[in-house]
Amino acid sequence: MDEKGKAGITRQEALELLGKYLPQDNLIKHCLATEAIMRALAQKLGSDEGVWGIAGILHDLDYTETKDQMNQHTLHTEKILQGLGVSREIIDAIKGHNADNLGFQRGTVFEHALTAAECITGLIVATALVYPDKKLASVKPQSIIKRMKQKEFARSVNRDYIRECETIGIPLDEFAALSLQAMSRISDELGL
Ligand SMILES: [Fe+2]
Repeated sequence: MDEKGKAGITRQEALELLGKYLPQDNLIKHCLATEAIMRALAQKLGSDEGVWGIAGILHDLDYTETKDQMNQHTLHTEKILQGLGVSREIIDAIKGHNADNLGFQRGTVFEHALTAAECITGLIVATALVYPDKKLASVKPQSIIKRMKQKEFARSVNRDYIRECETIGIPLDEFAALSLQAMSRISDELGL
């Protein structure tokens, strides 16, 4: 995990970038949750865990700067990461998760995976917060699916993006279970 490998950046370097550009605790947690799911997805699909994990960590790197101009979101990240020699594959996947605002269509498995992963984190956190202990340990995959069907629940979470898991061959219930399990492994870091 300390090697730059195909990613062109180490996990430690990626975390330092996060601390520099996106210091808000809740956003860092969102990125770590996304990383955990991306690693699990890479394992399942036979992709490079290190590469997919880094994309999870860095996908919202410029959010502080671009949150009010979403047609710029990920483009600042692209410049930063290009300058550091991060792999093109990672940069493209990061841009892909904002494809709608950038005016193109997602095409690769990596792009769909990142989009679905980063979106389901929000739904899972919101589901956990419903329970008295507010812990992931209380959440079952079926509760996530149930909440997903309630339009008013965590309404800012885009359900269509979560359903992109099906585009990459993972049924929704399986995706919810995999994501919950991945986030549960880092529940202490997530404070959930
Ligand atoms: Fe995100």
